[in-house]
Amino acid sequence: MATTVPLVPESTEWTERLDGFVDTATRAAAEFRRLDQEAVDRIVWAMVVAGLESAVELAELAMEETQFGVFEDKVVKNYIATEFLYDYLKDKRSVGVIDRDPARGIEYVAEPIGVVLALTPITNPTSTVLFKAIVAAKTRNAMIFRPSARAAGCAERAVQILSEAGERAGLPKGALQVIPDPTLDVSQYLFHHPGVDFIWTTGGPKAVAAANAAGKPCLSVGAGNAPVYIHSSADIPMAVVDMLISKTFDASVICPAEQTCVVDDAAYDQMVAELERMGARVLSREESDALAQATVAEDGRISMAALGRSCADLAAMAGLDPSERDKVLVAPLPSALDELAEHSFLQEKLMPVLGLVRSPSVDHGIAACELVTEHGGLGHTSAVYATDQEVVDRFAERIRTGRILVNAPTAVGALGGIYNSMTPTFSLGCGTWGGSMTTDNVNYRNLLNVKTVSRRQTPPQWFRVPSDTYFNAGAIESLRELGVTRAVVVTDADSEARGVADQVREQLPGASLHVFSEVEPEPGEATVREGAAIVDKLRPDAIIAVGGGSVIDAAKVIRLFHESPDVDLRELSLPFLDARKRVARYPHIAHDIRLAALPTTAGTGSEVSPAAVLSLGGRKVTLVDYSLVPDMAVVDPRLTASMPPVLTADTGVDALTHALEGAVSIFASPYTDAFCMQAINLILDALPRAYADGDDMDARTDMANAATIAGLAFSNAFVGVCHALAHAVGARFGIAHGRANAIFLPHVLRYNASLPSKFMPAPGYRTYVAPERYAQISHVIGLGGHGEAERRERLFTRVDELLRAVDEPRTLAEAGVPRADFDAALPELVRAAFADPSIRTNPRIPLVSELSGLLRAAAG
Ligand SMILES: NC(=O)c1ccc[n+]([C@@H]2O[C@H](COP(=O)([O-])OP(=O)(O)OC[C@H]3O[C@@H](n4cnc5c(N)ncnc54)[C@H](O)[C@@H]3O)[C@@H](O)[C@H]2O)c1
Ligand SMILES: [Fe+2]
Repeated sequence: MATTVPLVPESTEWTERLDGFVDTATRAAAEFRRLDQEAVDRIVWAMVVAGLESAVELAELAMEETQFGVFEDKVVKNYIATEFLYDYLKDKRSVGVIDRDPARGIEYVAEPIGVVLALTPITNPTSTVLFKAIVAAKTRNAMIFRPSARAAGCAERAVQILSEAGERAGLPKGALQVIPDPTLDVSQYLFHHPGVDFIWTTGGPKAVAAANAAGKPCLSVGAGNAPVYIHSSADIPMAVVDMLISKTFDASVICPAEQTCVVDDAAYDQMVAELERMGARVLSREESDALAQATVAEDGRISMAALGRSCADLAAMAGLDPSERDKVLVAPLPSALDELAEHSFLQEKLMPVLGLVRSPSVDHGIAACELVTEHGGLGHTSAVYATDQEVVDRFAERIRTGRILVNAPTAVGALGGIYNSMTPTFSLGCGTWGGSMTTDNVNYRNLLNVKTVSRRQTPPQWFRVPSDTYFNAGAIESLRELGVTRAVVVTDADSEARGVADQVREQLPGASLHVFSEVEPEPGEATVREGAAIVDKLRPDAIIAVGGGSVIDAAKVIRLFHESPDVDLRELSLPFLDARKRVARYPHIAHDIRLAALPTTAGTGSEVSPAAVLSLGGRKVTLVDYSLVPDMAVVDPRLTASMPPVLTADTGVDALTHALEGAVSIFASPYTDAFCMQAINLILDALPRAYADGDDMDARTDMANAATIAGLAFSNAFVGVCHALAHAVGARFGIAHGRANAIFLPHVLRYNASLPSKFMPAPGYRTYVAPERYAQISHVIGLGGHGEAERRERLFTRVDELLRAVDEPRTLAEAGVPRADFDAALPELVRAAFADPSIRTNPRIPLVSELSGLLRAAAG
């Protein structure tokens, strides 16, 4: 056995010697890191075999040195620390890739920690060393042991046996060392040593607190005080045998041992009789008090002299008649919780003394168990005996211990592997309640640095469109396909005055129609609720929305409110970063009322889109969900012929903006690209003609189709910064949506075509393609030009020409916003634009300063 050299604190020799231990460990750790799984498993095997072969010798040494406990049980503990541990570890990977999750593209790669300082307790002096040393080998960590001062010799021997066996199998020299010197200074020096990477403490509250205070990564597990609740539904004879096995195990010098048993009134007499029949000695209250007097020291703790003594020894100490036959001394404690709280036997008793409390109710019983945990047992271990599942559930819910054993003994059960499938351990995490970072049965996983190797993943995309779209002049006839007998027509007063409801009626001669024509531009919640109330009452087969974007949006939300009256618009319009992960919960129910949308403007694309814009308390909110998409879109250009030129221009520019923003969105796909391209092509050509001559049905047809096609694109690719800015100024200054887009569009095109100061993180958007995409569009629609830059410029010039041709204002000033009002509103506009969900799909993230710049550029 290695000899202990006494150290002189603070001397150079002293620090040099300790540094030497750490240096050796550091070198061993570096060597260890190079070993593969096979080499590691060979070492572990050799150490396990050596540990098993020495189980008896080490138990003898432990008995000799600590002078307490039960020899036979110390042997069992050593077996658990080797055989059970090996059974658990043998097929576990601890080197390199230890786990794979192919579906998520993730691999976990294990690395050792390095140098681990391991504190081991007096209670399990050799088994804990065997356990920690084998775990160190499995995880390729070098370990320096600091055993309990009163068990240093047997710990040293255990390390010697394992390191010799390990080294023969390839364990790096110096990977396992012991510094047995008992002084606290040594521990303190090592706690703060820069070469020590991790502290793994198993010990009492003082050791845990000292290790935790070291200020480096640590895992500390401390003392317990396990309560056991025996419900009247329990199997009493089994519970008694379990407790006798467990409480006598190594004379109860093991932290998860049963400490106080709380027994339901109905089972109490049977319990006491059974305990006595099986060899426990149930004391009287007076004897119990005498035992407490004799075994509790002045500081209120169990005295060292009583620790791990036999029942006969303890009885003698208390002046009770000693008997070798007594397995456990059962000490009745008060039932009243306030009295119980004061009793000195409520604490952890590392001796074969078990507290006994008679309990009048399940509530009281659980409360008494809680009280026990609050006296040093929080986070550690508890047990409940019951066949009534509800009692087990209540107990598990209320008691704050890391392990809750059901119908099983705690001392032997908590170590894992005998009575249950818990991980075998001699290091029982006590959670934050007990100063630990975990409630785990600590094992090799806790001693690894696990690296997550995560492969790039591009989430799948989608292209969702409404089920039916009818288009071209006369498409309104397709309303007959609906086969409705009762419908609510949603529109606005002006449109009704133009006769749109009559046009619908003509197509549905036999149906009863109710016309709701109260929708105002950018409808508010009250209007929509009003519409929903009508639908609730009339229970139509369909809602037919005829009008501009405002009407169609209102109809979408009318159906939503009818189906799910309790939805909260505030929640539904919550901001989000990724639509797939957003917090807002939209109801997903099959629609019982069909929604047909007939646009009378050629712009918003609302007839096919999942969006609805509402005004809510002075601001615009956008609801987006595919459940809002109409079931049928009827794109009849005749309905748009009545639009005055200004409306034609504004709505047409809105459609153009949808296509130009969708084309460069981070959600753009080959599907949406095709739609964007065609929509841009049609609009550049048809909008000036529709503007100049509202009766040009070819132009109207192209515009109506283009607006819906652009709608299909942005329903899947979404829009960008131009919309964010347009929403902000539109809401603040009452500028029509398309008109506001017209003002910002030229600036935003050039902004997105330049090098971003901040890229939008989007896995599907591999490189910054916005500038190139504009050039491609220009090329495909035949605008001519050579090279990317020129082609792109031609597109931008074409857009400028179009905006001029349809007399769109070029600045906010031209749109009637006085400069002073603009300046005053600027901070608010920037904030509103930045919060707008539209910017989430823009290819570059606009900085706040850039939004401000774009707004100022457009101010005029
Ligand atoms: N849901 C979406 O996907 C989506 C997309 C973009 C915009 N929007 C929203 O749509 C609204 C704008 O819709 P809009 O531009 O269609 O205007 P709108 O629906 O607000 O209508 C504006 C005015 O034009 C009149 N009008 C409509 N059609 C007419 C016609 N054929 N002849 C004469 N007058 C007619 C209306 O009566 C109304 O007074 C805004 O609230 C905007 O935020 C929604
Ligand atoms: Fe729009």
